[in-house]
Amino acid sequence: MIYNDDELLQLDYIDKLRKLIYEKEQKLGRKLTCQVTTFGCQMNARDSEKILGILKSVGFEEKIDEADDADFVIYNTCTVRDNANQRVYGRLGALKSHKKKNKEMKIALCGCMMQEPSVIEKIKKSYPFVDLVFGTHNIFSFPELLLRTYVENKQVIEIWDSTDKVVERLPVARKYKFKSGVNIMFGCNNFCTYCIVPYVRGRERSRRHEEIIEEIKRLADDGVKEVMLLGQNVNSYGNNLDNEVSFPELLKMVEEVEGIERIRFMTSHPKDLSDELIEVMANSKKICKHIHLPLQSGSTEVLRRMNRRYTKEQYLALVEKIRKAMPDISITTDIIVGFPGETYEDVLETIDVIKKAKYDNAFTFIYSKRTDTPAASMPDQVPLEDVKKHFDMVLSTVQEMAKERTARFENRVVRVLCEEINEQDDSYLDGRMSSNTVVHFKGDSSMIGSFVNVKLTKCHGFYYDGDVVD
Ligand code: 5AD
Ligand code: SF4
Repeated sequence: MIYNDDELLQLDYIDKLRKLIYEKEQKLGRKLTCQVTTFGCQMNARDSEKILGILKSVGFEEKIDEADDADFVIYNTCTVRDNANQRVYGRLGALKSHKKKNKEMKIALCGCMMQEPSVIEKIKKSYPFVDLVFGTHNIFSFPELLLRTYVENKQVIEIWDSTDKVVERLPVARKYKFKSGVNIMFGCNNFCTYCIVPYVRGRERSRRHEEIIEEIKRLADDGVKEVMLLGQNVNSYGNNLDNEVSFPELLKMVEEVEGIERIRFMTSHPKDLSDELIEVMANSKKICKHIHLPLQSGSTEVLRRMNRRYTKEQYLALVEKIRKAMPDISITTDIIVGFPGETYEDVLETIDVIKKAKYDNAFTFIYSKRTDTPAASMPDQVPLEDVKKHFDMVLSTVQEMAKERTARFENRVVRVLCEEINEQDDSYLDGRMSSNTVVHFKGDSSMIGSFVNVKLTKCHGFYYDGDVVD
């Protein structure tokens, strides 16, 4: 593998850390343990795999339980909605008492929430027992920061405003052997007026397709069968690079990688979804028949104030075009209820789209005011009482429609990737269909990571029961 200078530097810090952790082990007469807790989206989940990969490679053992009492505890935070922030503060309180009992314990915070200056102020003032804080732009320098935390023995806080570095070849500890996320781009340029992501993740930056394909080939060699291409807006892939391939072209290249059997991607902005993408998906045997297409609101007026740059009619026309090319496709979405100025009539428009678009699933969120976003200072913030009423209306429509739509698969035999043991009953497995729908069926751990044909016997709305038929 050819490393760049930044990667070489961090690999050197990894070597130094290995020695330091080994010495600690000798002194304590035991292994040091670590825990990585992830809040938020798939991108954060992927970042956590990178953090865990580094911790393991320097000698930490992963502690897998609920108690936050390992020797190194790190929260990879999210700040898309305020409730994620509150959960972090809540758990930090409990960490303080664990730290009193374990003198070796180090506490670290990273991720999107750390890119907010007000959060850093609060940590400095009220959480002096936190040892290390870093943000989204310098996650690649985690080995260096970890070493500093142990050597300097004082609170290390390092936040960058942006970065142009792409450091992707450090150790990674994948949660699943057989599937993996792959970052194809970072950041977002869309500035939807409610959203804090462009401020905490920075401007859009795509990785070169050669690097992406190289990573996917390495993953395939390592047993990965399914990749999820990750970006805030994958449809604008390549826009910031000269002569870069388009997203549909990139998909075609991924399709060529031997060993990869399924390709997923997340997330598509409706304004940029091209006919070329629809065509590539329709003709592909590997690209899953699922598209996550965030609606946010069905009211053209609310969409305008959200800066989404499409109308209700344009969105519905796009859904129709996708369904015409792939009648069986599963479409999922995100919806926000309670955006400033949203009226009862606006909510009815959203409900109308839900009925017409026939989603397989929809994530419905209550609008959360995020500091310094344009929507935070818009007039007519909707009273919570109305928001709750509207939220219940939207949620029940989503559930009703999703149940109806998902039921189309009943009695069919579908190809399922076996993913994990069912939490409630260990004689069952959970797997996923191409549509991303979860299926429960009898099986054992030897089947995890393989594909089986499953007859879908009963639809429970968002998931199925089934029986393996081969
Ligand atoms: N309030 C509520 N939901 C939000 N999302 C993004 N920002 C906010 C906010 N301020 C939702 C959007 C997005 C998903 C990842 O999170 O629906 O698609
Ligand atoms: Fe946020 Fe809009 Fe970018 Fe998605 S596309 S991350 S909602 S600004």
